[in-house]
Amino acid sequence: DPIRPLIAGNWKMHGTGADLPELKRIANGVDGTKSDSPYDAVICTPATLIDRAVRTVVGSPLAIGGQDCHHAEKGAHTGDVSPAMLVEAGASYVIVGHSERRADHGESDADVLGKANGAHAAGMTAIVCVGETREEREAGRAEDVVDGQLAWSVPEDARPDDTVIAYEPVWAIGTGLTPSMHDIETMHDHMRMQLKQRFGSSGARFRLLYGGSVKPANAADIFAISSVDGALIGGASLKSDDFLAICAAM
Ligand code: G3H
Repeated sequence: DPIRPLIAGNWKMHGTGADLPELKRIANGVDGTKSDSPYDAVICTPATLIDRAVRTVVGSPLAIGGQDCHHAEKGAHTGDVSPAMLVEAGASYVIVGHSERRADHGESDADVLGKANGAHAAGMTAIVCVGETREEREAGRAEDVVDGQLAWSVPEDARPDDTVIAYEPVWAIGTGLTPSMHDIETMHDHMRMQLKQRFGSSGARFRLLYGGSVKPANAADIFAISSVDGALIGGASLKSDDFLAICAAM
């Protein structure tokens, strides 16, 4: 069977009640019904919006996710949100290890691993983010960096139905810059090989998303790469026209 693509939006620290009509337009425009749509789609909203977002999109094929979680189910962790809390709010996916979390909050691979495990324990699909900085790419270390992140942030018992990998070169995020199609393909092929080595035949089934300045104008070229199984979209997920144009390119 072909891998079912996933188109994921990351609203980052954008999104209040005023954005729910835009979310509704996205939900209404995403193809098909839950059973027959040609791809899965999710928008990861701020935690404060999840409950209302879920109610806004109910009955549509659009899922709602979180952008981060604590690893534990509960405890004395002021300001943190647990995986179980996201699930209760209605999230079915959660992004873990986004480079903005790794940079802004010093999250290590071990932290990200814990969050992915917590997400799995709560029944969510974890979208684990990896990707090199510009300095690392220029030093010829992009594949080594991604290998390390995959090895140490993806749980040992990860499965293709509970784990998605998002390759996001840090220098392509929010910059309008993207790697060449050849560089995206090379990295995705490399990640596929690593996952097969580690997980055997199931390694061939994980969804590998590309993220970093995906736009309506470049989505078709990116989706044409056979080892790209979808996208993680930041800025262009905030506008229904842009997000739906990207979906239409799938
Ligand atoms: O999670 C999404 C990525 O960070 C990409 O953001 O599409 O605004 O470049 P961007």
